[in-house]
Amino acid sequence: MAVHHIGIIMNGVTGRMGTNQHLIRSILAIRNEGGIALAGGDIIMPDPILVGRQEHKLRALAEKHGVERWTTDLEASLADGYNQIYFDAQTTLRRADSIKQAIKAGKHIYCEKPTADSLEASLELALLAKSAGVKNGVVQDKLFLPGMLKLKRLIDSGYFGKILSVRMEFGYWVFEGDWQPGQRPSWNYRKEDGGGIIVDMFAHWRYVLDNLFGEVKAVTCLGATHIPKRVDEQGDTYECTADDAAYATFLLEGDIIVQANSSWAVRVDRDDLLTIQVDGTLGSAVAGLRDCKTQHRVNTPKPVWNPDIPNPFQFAEQWQEVPDNQLFDNAFKVQWELFLQHVVCDTPFRWDLFEGAKGTQMSEIGLQSWHERRWVDVPALTLEGGQS
Ligand SMILES: NC(=O)c1ccc[n+]([C@@H]2O[C@H](COP(=O)([O-])OP(=O)(O)OC[C@H]3O[C@@H](n4cnc5c(N)ncnc54)[C@H](O)[C@@H]3O)[C@@H](O)[C@H]2O)c1
Repeated sequence: MAVHHIGIIMNGVTGRMGTNQHLIRSILAIRNEGGIALAGGDIIMPDPILVGRQEHKLRALAEKHGVERWTTDLEASLADGYNQIYFDAQTTLRRADSIKQAIKAGKHIYCEKPTADSLEASLELALLAKSAGVKNGVVQDKLFLPGMLKLKRLIDSGYFGKILSVRMEFGYWVFEGDWQPGQRPSWNYRKEDGGGIIVDMFAHWRYVLDNLFGEVKAVTCLGATHIPKRVDEQGDTYECTADDAAYATFLLEGDIIVQANSSWAVRVDRDDLLTIQVDGTLGSAVAGLRDCKTQHRVNTPKPVWNPDIPNPFQFAEQWQEVPDNQLFDNAFKVQWELFLQHVVCDTPFRWDLFEGAKGTQMSEIGLQSWHERRWVDVPALTLEGGQS
């Protein structure tokens, strides 16, 4: 039995995603479980080195979680051949330059979405990684959420018949920061810092739609900045220059119509922060982050419009839960495990930088549709940058 120790440079690890999802719930969780056990008996043991700009934050994080390796010197960590993977969860605008540096140093690349702030820059990364022959992957965590896996199970079973339409409701109230601190970083609301809900969420919607329902063919999007001023982490008021809500319609192959509302200025009256309702000829389903409920055509009640009497239907009770039937692990961790196996055992991994670039393309087209007030077709992408 061999243990494959894989040094992973984790940059941007003091941030919200870096600390919680990637360090604690993925890499340290894998280490605590004794690594990833492979079929032949070998083990993959990830070994993180925390990298960032601020020494005191890195030291505190490393000490708190018993991580021995940390540094503010990215170049030195890249020069060390023990570190095979470069991971990036920095703010979006800083990602491309660091990834390019890491590709030059011959590291395999894994990173948060969006991979860059423009389609051109995202494609450049994908092309550079391919030319350098390094393995690469992009976080597409929503695909590994229990709710989405249950939805996929329903789709694969043929449960829906022909899928007609999909409604996605994403969002919650993000506090403005004046009388209660905001629960998202302030750069999210500044365009010049890479913020905006279209840049953030359309990168997710692209892979969710492509993977579950079919390729996105056209988009119409109306963005808004509902909250014009917020208060940042230092208590200073700033202008919100980026969109905080987007009202979009996507047309997919097979004529599936998707309506997607994304908003950081909405209060939640639904089962989860993201719900996806799918209506098909044979049945419907509503998936949240963990749960998924169904209503088959044979269980569909027959309401009749009559506001003159009290509503006789308890609509929320007319749905049936899809059972777990398996243990669900953290979505980020599941994808990390797949990527680590891809690096060590060369197993397939299709969520790469090129797929990430498609997410950036979706955001750009959403913004274009909003600014030009029209439907925009989604051209097929090629790695060389061509769109046809
Ligand atoms: N997959 C998901 O569901 C998901 C969710 C939220 C965010 N994200 C992505 O993850 C990335 C990080 O987001 P986050 O919410 O963790 O952000 P964050 O602000 O909490 O963390 C950003 C990290 O980048 C570092 N950083 C480097 N240079 C910086 C600079 N000049 N200004 C500010 N921070 C700087 C920070 O120190 C920190 O470690 C973003 O690209 C974001 O789009 C992904």
